[in-house]
Amino acid sequence: MRVLLSEQQIQERIREIATQIHTDYEGKKPILIGILKGSFVFLSDLIRELEMELEVDFMATSSYGDATTSSGVVQLTKDLDVAIEGRDVIIVEDIVDTGLTLRYLRQLLLQRFPASLAVCTLLDKSARRQVEVPVDYCGFDIEDGFVVGYGIDYAQKYRQLRFVAIIEEDFNE
Ligand code: IMP
Repeated sequence: MRVLLSEQQIQERIREIATQIHTDYEGKKPILIGILKGSFVFLSDLIRELEMELEVDFMATSSYGDATTSSGVVQLTKDLDVAIEGRDVIIVEDIVDTGLTLRYLRQLLLQRFPASLAVCTLLDKSARRQVEVPVDYCGFDIEDGFVVGYGIDYAQKYRQLRFVAIIEEDFNE
């Protein structure tokens, strides 16, 4: 396992993203939707840098496939608790990879007529995109490879790491 992004790098970038969001949503009260489980650490650090009125809700999806590859079939396993019609919505993701999860979520949320819909992701594997999806706020564009830490898991492990690490091919715990 090799450290890809240090705790300090992540925290600095989050402050920059928070400044951007703060500027873009001046006078508004956005609702930030964390996509479980991978985004919960990022979301909790992000909102504590956002000195503005905001709300938080969560959704969860699962995609069929093994631990490290997605089949592209996305299923909603937890829906929002609140209505978003007329609201400024920001989807908060851990990683955008093929883009299939995000495309599914955007289509679902747009049917509910939010005033606006933006996407904020900690990590973007843009080279692996299979479908085009807009990303408004991105922490880091990263190389291909399986990453863990800072909320992101491998078989439910490593979420508690303060940094993001890449699991190398010869990785054996
Ligand atoms: P997409 O639908 O292919 O864009 O996949 C997005 C989701 O796949 C992310 O929200 C993660 O949950 C998961 N994922 C993609 N790459 C990784 C990785 O390197 N480590 C852990 N989870 C990943």
